Amino acid sequence: MKYTFPEGFKLGATGAGWQMEGETDKRPDQKHFPHLMWENDRENWYLGLGPDVASDFYGHFREDIPMFRKAGILQYRFNIDWSRFLDDYENVVVNEKAAQYYSDVIDCLIENGIEPVLCLEHWELPAALYEKYDGYASRHVVDLYARYAREAFRRYGDRVKTWFTFNEPMVIPELCFLNGFWWPKEHQPARAFRWIHGKILCTARAVEIFRQELPEGKIGVIVNPPYIIPRDANNPADAEAADVADNFYWRPFMDTAILGHYPQKFLDILQRENVMFDLTEEDKALIAKNTVDILGMNYYQPMRVKAKETPWDDSQPFHPNKYFDNYDMPGKRMNPYRGWEIYPRSLYDIGMRIKREYHNIDWVVSESGMGVQNEEQYKNAEGIIQDTYRIEFIAEHLAWLSKAVAEGCNCHGYWLFASIDNCSPYNTFKNRYGLVEVDRKQNLKRRLKASADWYRAAAESNSFDFKEI
Ligand code: BG6
Repeated sequence: MKYTFPEGFKLGATGAGWQMEGETDKRPDQKHFPHLMWENDRENWYLGLGPDVASDFYGHFREDIPMFRKAGILQYRFNIDWSRFLDDYENVVVNEKAAQYYSDVIDCLIENGIEPVLCLEHWELPAALYEKYDGYASRHVVDLYARYAREAFRRYGDRVKTWFTFNEPMVIPELCFLNGFWWPKEHQPARAFRWIHGKILCTARAVEIFRQELPEGKIGVIVNPPYIIPRDANNPADAEAADVADNFYWRPFMDTAILGHYPQKFLDILQRENVMFDLTEEDKALIAKNTVDILGMNYYQPMRVKAKETPWDDSQPFHPNKYFDNYDMPGKRMNPYRGWEIYPRSLYDIGMRIKREYHNIDWVVSESGMGVQNEEQYKNAEGIIQDTYRIEFIAEHLAWLSKAVAEGCNCHGYWLFASIDNCSPYNTFKNRYGLVEVDRKQNLKRRLKASADWYRAAAESNSFDFKEI
């Protein structure tokens, strides 16, 4: 069957700053937060590899960007590394070499017929601001972020018309301070929620500044809610469990950014559990006034939940799992390398929910992709990775998305994660995501994968063939 997207819908890809760029030309004191995660917990990073070299996009971008165009990438979302961009975070003194680098990347994208889209942060909070102020938990850091944002808008707003404030603002507070999963491996819920609130304030502040600086442009935030599915929607206990999960994992960034307020149930639970952050009337007014124009939705897998069955001990720090259990659905389809479920239908359900509950805001799938280990085994005689699994993964997700678009949801893009193989947090180069291979055994040599040809054909015709869903 042939699937076709309407005019204006574009295929693109994502490049995560620190995961690709590498740290060439940075001073030792210009570290970002993921560098701290690596430096302090290196033995748990795959083969000890980390963000220092990454894919060295910094040194290869003039070679990489033409390859991105050959892979059909028409829009490219990447981000500024805040820790690289400024020499002095307190006084917003720009590092001119870094500023020139981002400017050159933007020009190179445009010269190659790719629309640049900029994000202000993919977790690259400067280490100094983490160490001195505990990052986004501090209102001073919120101010510094706002000043950084203004500077970035002024530097690149002439050529970049679509901006995002954060990529996945939930991830660091959740995995580092709530779940204790990534360094510094804390279980400090109140701190995690202070970080979340700080990032929500940063988005509102950046939107406010954006309206003054670039009134013709569009600004949004990129979230990864995830999409929550109850074990049995007709069972009230499962439905209630899903509603609590939704209030913690889907709603906080979605509701504040698009509807201009926090979900009440989320605030009520935080109050009850004594982990509430400081929410002033001024904060509420700022959030209400500065909602976004566009939403970026990263989607990898759903979150399945069921009513609480395991015991909960109140002497441990609060966690949303006090109210629900994760549901390991028998028979679910898996990406065995990443250990993530493959469930493309969520893109349709997400689109319909955004249409229904979020005034059908403009949105894009800002990340979706499949990480696969040992991809060299799929090389043909010419040494090209035959990643048919990736083609199938993309096609199936696009098929469900096209159904949502056909039913009136306002999605106008799908950006694959990722343009090029890159350094995942902790998994480093274990799972490969790119349309472009980075061969670490051959001095970071780049080669297009088979999926690049498929993606180009789909991007140029805005259509593709796939089985009926
Ligand atoms: C997204 C992030 O959540 O998932 C990326 O924005 C990340 O930074 C991607 O790389 C894939 O996850 P992972 O852990 O396999 O790299």
